[in-house]
Amino acid sequence: MTTIGEQVSGLELMDKLTTLCKRRGLVFPNSEVYSGLAGFWDYGPLGVELKRNIERAWWDCMVRRRDDVAGLDSACIGPEAVWQASGHVSTFNDALVDDKHTKERFRIDQLLYRSEEDAENAEVHALEWMRAGLTGEVEFWDGLKDLLGYFPLNPTTQKESRFTEPRQFNLMFKQAVGATGEGAQVGYLRAETCQPIFVDFDSIRVAARRKVPFGIAQIGKAFRNEINPRNFLFRAREFTQMELEYFVRPDALVDRLGASPAAPHACAATLAWYRYWLDERLRYYDELGIPNGMLRVREHPPEKLAHYAKAACDIEFHFPFGWGELEGVHHRGDFDLRQHQQHSGKSFAYYDDEAEQDLLSKGLAKDEARALATYLPVCIETSVGLDRIFLAVLAAAYDEDLQDTKHEGKEEDIRIVLRLKPSLAPITCAVFPLSKKLSGPDSAAYRMYRELVDAGLNCEYDDAGSIGKRYRRQDEVGTPWCLTYDFESVTDMAVTIRDRDSLAQDRVPITRMPDEIHARLKASRG
Ligand code: GAP
Repeated sequence: MTTIGEQVSGLELMDKLTTLCKRRGLVFPNSEVYSGLAGFWDYGPLGVELKRNIERAWWDCMVRRRDDVAGLDSACIGPEAVWQASGHVSTFNDALVDDKHTKERFRIDQLLYRSEEDAENAEVHALEWMRAGLTGEVEFWDGLKDLLGYFPLNPTTQKESRFTEPRQFNLMFKQAVGATGEGAQVGYLRAETCQPIFVDFDSIRVAARRKVPFGIAQIGKAFRNEINPRNFLFRAREFTQMELEYFVRPDALVDRLGASPAAPHACAATLAWYRYWLDERLRYYDELGIPNGMLRVREHPPEKLAHYAKAACDIEFHFPFGWGELEGVHHRGDFDLRQHQQHSGKSFAYYDDEAEQDLLSKGLAKDEARALATYLPVCIETSVGLDRIFLAVLAAAYDEDLQDTKHEGKEEDIRIVLRLKPSLAPITCAVFPLSKKLSGPDSAAYRMYRELVDAGLNCEYDDAGSIGKRYRRQDEVGTPWCLTYDFESVTDMAVTIRDRDSLAQDRVPITRMPDEIHARLKASRG
C-alpha cells in the first residue's frame, strides 16, 4: 500500500539499493536478456551469501537453538486436494482492477490512498462487492467514494483515472502433473510453506518424538501469481518463506488443568503463546541489527480476524516506500489440522497422556479426562518472506559518508557503505596485498587468506587497484574488516586490520589470524 507523500522521499533510497544490488551482483532480474517476467529475481554471488546468512540466523534461532522445534523441507508442488482443503483454490483471491487509460493492472489496495486504513477499507469494500455478485463500474467507484470521501489515484501517474470494477483473481500457480491429456493430475505450486507442515504434522511428530507443545519449521520457496509485483523484492511471484507452526494445548484443556509450576510452558494459554512468539520474533530482528525504530507491530482488529483466529498481527518495517508488512504472527486455532483431517479422512487428533494423568489426579472421570486430553492442537504461526528481510536488512544498513579521496581536484568523496551486522556480511574479511610484488599463489598474503578460508570464514582476496578503491569495493558490500599485507609485514609478520565503521586500523600479528577475526565476529554478536 502506498500513501501520498511517502512515495517520493523513499524512491531515492530504493533506487540506490536496486542499483547497488545490480552493480555488485547481489540481486538482478531473472532472464533479463529476454526481458524476463516481472516478479522473479536472481541472487548473484554476494546476494546468495547474504541471503544464506539471514536464513541461517533464522534457522539457528527457530530450530537449532531450541529443543521443541523440528525442521521440514517438503516438495514445492502439492496435489489439488491439499489446496482445496486449505481453502486456497476457492478463496486465495485478490481484487483486481485495470486502469482504462494506461492499461496498468493493480490490486485494489495498491492504488494511492490517503492512509493505510483507507486502503484496507477499499479492499474490504471490493471483496464484499464481489462476494455479493454486484456489477456496475460507476456504482462501485461511487460507493468507494462515499466510503472514503475521495477517489484513489493511479499510483504510477499519481492522478485520478478510470478503473474497471474489481474482479476476482486467484493467485495460485496451477500445474498439470504427469503426461498431459486425460491422465494428467492437477497440482499447485505451494502458495505458502505451512500447508505441507500441517499435512505432515503426524509423520513429523512421530519421527521427531515430540509432545505438545512443539513446533515444525520450514524454509522454502512459495509461489504467488501476484497481480502487480513491485517494490523490488517486496512483492515477488516466487519468494522464499520461513514459517514456524507451533502446536499448543487448546484453551479448554488449559483452563481445566490450571497452572502447573512443574510445566508452566505446557499450561500456557494459547494467547500467551502468541505473545511469546511475537516477542521471539522481535528478538530475532534485534539480532539481525535492525533498529527498533524501523519496526512496529500492528495488531489486526477483531473484525478483520478470520473466524477461527484469536489474534493476528503484522510486524512492519519502514521500507524506503513506506511502512510495509515484514512478517505475520498468527493465532490459527485448529483450523488447518481440522480442514486436512476432514478432507483427507485421516485423524490428526493428538492424545496427551500427561494431560490425562493430570486431569485424573484432579478427580475427573476417566471418560471426561480422555476426551479432554484427545484434541487437535492449536497452532501459533510466525511467517516471513526471506526476500523481504533481505530488503529490510539492506535498507537499514545502507549509508553514505564523506571520506578523503585521491581523486584529482577533490579532497572528499562520497563513500557507500553497508553497515551490516558482521555475521550477516557476504564477505567477513578481505585480504589485500599492498603491491603485486607481495601477491601471487606462493605469497605470505595468499597463505594467510587460505588459512582464513580454511577456518570457515567467508573471505575475499583482492590485489587489483589502489588500496582506496579496494576499501570502497568492500565497504559497499558491507565487509567489516580488511586486512592489508604491506612491505613491513615481511619483517614484523603483522597486518593492518581496518574496521569498516570506525575506520580504526590495528596492527595484528599474522599468527593471531584467524582467531582474531573469529573473536571480532563473536564480539559483534553481543
Ligand atoms: N502462512 C501464512 C502466510 O503465508 P501471508 O501474510 O500471506 O501469510 C506471510 O505471508 C509473509 O510472506 C509476509 O509477511 C511476507 O513477508 C511474505 N510474503 C507474502 N507474499 C509475498 C510476496 N509476494 N513476495 C515476497 N514476500 C511475500
